[in-house]
Amino acid sequence: MNKLIAQGAEAKIFLNENIVSKQRIEKSYRHPALDNQIRRQRTKREARILTKALALKANVPKVLNTNKKGESSDKFNLEIEFIDGEKLAEFLNDYPEGKQKEVMKKLGEETATLHENNIIHGDLTTSNTILRNSKVYIIDFGLGFISAKIEDKAVDLHLIKQALEAKHWKNWEDLFKEFLEGYKHKEAKEIIERLKVVEKRGRYKH
Ligand SMILES: Nc1ncnc2c1ncn2[C@@H]1O[C@H](COP(=O)(O)OP(=O)(O)O)[C@@H](O)[C@H]1O
Ligand SMILES: [Mg+2]
Repeated sequence: MNKLIAQGAEAKIFLNENIVSKQRIEKSYRHPALDNQIRRQRTKREARILTKALALKANVPKVLNTNKKGESSDKFNLEIEFIDGEKLAEFLNDYPEGKQKEVMKKLGEETATLHENNIIHGDLTTSNTILRNSKVYIIDFGLGFISAKIEDKAVDLHLIKQALEAKHWKNWEDLFKEFLEGYKHKEAKEIIERLKVVEKRGRYKH
């Protein structure tokens, strides 16, 4: 049976057996031709990025309806593996402290794998991370893109740091420290340095 499990600003998420389908919905305020183009592009982009991440053995959902080019075979609909686990936004705070840290370190490792290969997530928060069988999965690459820029990678770190501060405020500093503990790769130091610049700019905005 097809069951609606989430509805975001952009997409409806249905679950059928073990398959999640992310259907990008029509936006009536956009010109129909432009709307079609945007929905098609975002579906295609998400499928491509997931396919690239899967090739690196990153923990992300498998793409189920792609063609040979790694594009979704249905223009507005992405079918992916259901990650049947615990979304960190909901569960992280209830774990014992040791497990919280372990999970954040693993998220740091996963993020490092993506960034080493120039995959930027674009919306890295605890709402887009799921723990299953002691593995941390990253989902929702709808805002993802490919970039080698230190700046773009630093923004991902800024997003997860902000999410921890907002939703896991009791010990967010320790949790972010663990994330960075796992975030080890060639450019990591430079990216963490850049994070300070990104944060300063953020403060001006508010
Ligand atoms: N592959 C998946 N496995 C398990 N749950 C998923 C999966 N994809 C999406 N979800 C659930 O649906 C919600 C919304 O999907 P997401 O891809 O994050 O879209 P958006 O945040 O853009 O609406 C997620 O927060 C998660 O609860
Ligand atoms: Mg999401």
